[in-house]
Amino acid sequence: MSSRKPIVVVGSINLDLVAVAPKIPAVGETLIGTDFQIHPGGKGANQAVAVALLGYPVHMIGRLGTDSFGAQLRAHLEQTGVDTAGVLSSDGASGVAVIVVSSTGENSIVVAPGANSKLTPQDLDSNLPIIRSAGIVLAQLEIPLETVERLSEICAREKVPLVLDPAPARSLPATLLKNVAWLTPNESEASFYVGDEHDNSASRDVGDTASRLFDLGCRGVILKMGAQGVYLAENRMNGLAIPAFKVVSVDSTAAGDAFNGAFGVALMLGKSPGESARFAAAAAAVSVTRAGAQPSMPTMAEVESLLSR
Ligand code: RIB
Repeated sequence: MSSRKPIVVVGSINLDLVAVAPKIPAVGETLIGTDFQIHPGGKGANQAVAVALLGYPVHMIGRLGTDSFGAQLRAHLEQTGVDTAGVLSSDGASGVAVIVVSSTGENSIVVAPGANSKLTPQDLDSNLPIIRSAGIVLAQLEIPLETVERLSEICAREKVPLVLDPAPARSLPATLLKNVAWLTPNESEASFYVGDEHDNSASRDVGDTASRLFDLGCRGVILKMGAQGVYLAENRMNGLAIPAFKVVSVDSTAAGDAFNGAFGVALMLGKSPGESARFAAAAAAVSVTRAGAQPSMPTMAEVESLLSR
């Protein structure tokens, strides 16, 4: 058995139904696509698989349905090396995501949460030994907010750092944010949280955005800005801009999940937050060169190869 404290991921597990099309359709528009793929996904499961493929021990806490998707998704997690003892079952459907990927690699996603919406605070209480064993906990917002709130309380009480990917964006109470070690929004989520939903991201000052996130109660902020790179702020005074690695983007789905999984691994391996964010940016860059959520997650060798270029 490994003596390293595992990473624990609390979050969603979905089956992704992916149509590839020349562009993201407009409201009322029908497009003829060029491809269709089915992949294992879900922000939580993607982050867990990212951790496992980087060779670090990881436990998943979540819920699957009793449909055939549930069995497939559990088997896939286990084959990848994710410990699923904390993955519970609920009668009915598993989570499903309907995704359109454009020819330039952008995506739009609708999630039908299914069993993910049945992950309760009590489920966390019954998995307390797993959470207590964690070196870091990773979470997202595709499960009920009350469950994420309970998780943040447990993490604060047990002194386990919580990295929260605030996606999909939704209002979060300050009582939750103060328990989050690192909040990791992408550009549109950051705009939502600072109340600038119509702001042009290219003109926004990242230091100002981070500062406004600190105003909301955050303790550490990482802005994930795709091709514009990453901005990491441990406090209002110290910000670090990390350029993006230049790659050809095929599919950006789950690049943010690759980042969060890799960020957690790098912190657990003793890297500084800045080094960890650079490592995570490299992992995200590898992931966008391949199609699908979990099939795009990189190995340690791939990340190290990109970092050494
Ligand atoms: O972050 C990408 C993920 O969002 C997809 O895998 C999809 O399942 C949705 O959860």
